[in-house]
Amino acid sequence: MNADLIVYNIGQLVTGRELSLKDGESSMENIEILENGYIAISGNEIMAFGAGEVPSKLVKFTTKLLDAEGCVVTPGLIDSHTHLVHGGSRENEFLDKIQGVPYLDILERGGGILSTVKATREATEDELLDKAKKTLRTMLSLGVTTVESKSGYGLDSEIELKQLKVNERLNHEQEIEIVSTFMGAHAVPKEYENNREEFIKKMLDLLPIIKERKLAEFFDVFCEKGVFTTEESKKMFKEAKKYGLKLRIHADEIENTKGAELAKELHMYSADHLMAISDEGIKALKNSKVIANLLPGTSFSLGKEYAPARKMIDNGVQVALSTDYNPGSCPTENLQLIMQIAALKLKMRPKEILKAVTLNAARSIGREKKIGSIEEGKKADFVIFDAKNIEYILYRFGVNHTKQVFKNGCLVYKK
Ligand code: NIG
Ligand code: FE
Repeated sequence: MNADLIVYNIGQLVTGRELSLKDGESSMENIEILENGYIAISGNEIMAFGAGEVPSKLVKFTTKLLDAEGCVVTPGLIDSHTHLVHGGSRENEFLDKIQGVPYLDILERGGGILSTVKATREATEDELLDKAKKTLRTMLSLGVTTVESKSGYGLDSEIELKQLKVNERLNHEQEIEIVSTFMGAHAVPKEYENNREEFIKKMLDLLPIIKERKLAEFFDVFCEKGVFTTEESKKMFKEAKKYGLKLRIHADEIENTKGAELAKELHMYSADHLMAISDEGIKALKNSKVIANLLPGTSFSLGKEYAPARKMIDNGVQVALSTDYNPGSCPTENLQLIMQIAALKLKMRPKEILKAVTLNAARSIGREKKIGSIEEGKKADFVIFDAKNIEYILYRFGVNHTKQVFKNGCLVYKK
């Protein structure tokens, strides 16, 4: 078969394939990095890859050759936790926030998530779509080729469906693949404050419609003190499962509510946040397929504790990293910055960080057979960085290191 494109002279090719563990490595460091690598692409797939000279039989029939000039190439980055689709912004709460007013207090007085709910209800579908597209263009320029996107700023049947509809349209109207999550249980809206049961029922009543119209693949709940209890969450998750939705959870973010344990019990794809995870929670995740999806941009932005990443990794938990991009707790779509915070604050090592935004992020959204590593037959999603080694990308923080981004074999961003 002929290749359409060969990228050669790759200084470090992070294939992201898992290797057998070497002495002294954590269970997150076992990813393959090839020195002086190449990748061959046919159509939208990886056809071959390797280290050293590109085999001459490959070169002979190739349409295009691209010299990576000794730079780093990684699989396309995956942002596996975002609240992409929303109206407005919340800089009006910023001063309170930096002066120490707690996140849950702002929510309690009708601000926080509820103020974004208001702005999202007021926005038209097209306005939400345009705003999300703009964010996705920035994400793409940062090397992100797949994004999970949650609803949860409607908290009303029609508006939740409007957000999910935007997810669907985004999949057809721009390059990044969107993985849609229904999160009607993101907060209890004011009008249901004294009738939580009714609100939960209303959100669960959307499940057959979502299933029929294929509007979401995942179901998520904000299981948190003052938001949804562990019992309420469990009930909702069980219902969502009946409609074929896969599960993920906002767990142990501010207070410990045994969210990690619930994730294991219900075989979820990921448990996200985990700043307040307990030792029992870590033990539960260790013996499960649940990915611990850490969002250190939220700790950074809220001035809170960071998740105990080192303890989790050293105990064999598989970790992913995401932005949590949203207008409140993490108003940045910059996944490279999150990777840098993970190094500086979570003390994660470069290979661990790379695995967390590629293969493990793919696992957390059930896409590991198609994306997340450079392997024959996988999608040709990859990034050429303006850096000679992966350490440089993490050490030199606050700048975009991307040089070129390819999605499905096509060049979609060039510096
Ligand atoms: O993941 N924790 C709940 N939801 C978001 C924040 C949403 C918001 O503040 O608008 C989060 O941090
Ligand atoms: Fe979130």
